[in-house]
Amino acid sequence: MDDRPIGVFDSGVGGLTVVNALSIALPNESICYVGDTARVPYGNKSTQRIQQYSHEIAEWLMKKNCKMIVVACNTVSSLAMDYLQSHFPLPVIGVIQPGVNYAIQITKNNKLGVIGTQATIQSNAYVKALHAIMPNINVISKACPLFVPLVEEGLVEGEIPLSIADFYLKDIQSSDIDTVILGCTHYPLLKRIIGAVL
Ligand code: DGL
Repeated sequence: MDDRPIGVFDSGVGGLTVVNALSIALPNESICYVGDTARVPYGNKSTQRIQQYSHEIAEWLMKKNCKMIVVACNTVSSLAMDYLQSHFPLPVIGVIQPGVNYAIQITKNNKLGVIGTQATIQSNAYVKALHAIMPNINVISKACPLFVPLVEEGLVEGEIPLSIADFYLKDIQSSDIDTVILGCTHYPLLKRIIGAVL
């Protein structure tokens, strides 16, 4: 067995949800995690800046002798996967495809919502990946830039997150989509509020 660690990174601590899932699925693997809390958020930065930060972190993980890299961050997965895969000689896996595969598996009416950071939604990465599997699937995308600072502030319950979620999710609310992809590591922490609005 190759006992070198799996490198995992995110723009902050949100990616620890991915670490948790990985350690349940692969209990014998060791994991080396980087959360770039000094430079979070990535979701409002340019593609070039996101690629530069990802490059620096991937280099550091390689120096730690990681055998592969899991990009837990949706923003990096949307904008820097091709970049990382072409610059580093080890397997690099993102979170877009697994989310898309699962959403397609569970939707009953083929109408999906995707929410994420500005950069993720603008990149169209989720819509492209969904259409690559199911060309006539219906997708409504919405950037929710205030969700990350809300989570960073610990404001995940109560009137403030509820009214912000209500503001962002109006279009999704009035549509007949049956599944929403939480396309950002922070959003699972707002799952109850998002669920209440939708
Ligand atoms: N980790 C980012 C993501 O999953 C969210 C936070 C950020 O904007 O950096 O897209």
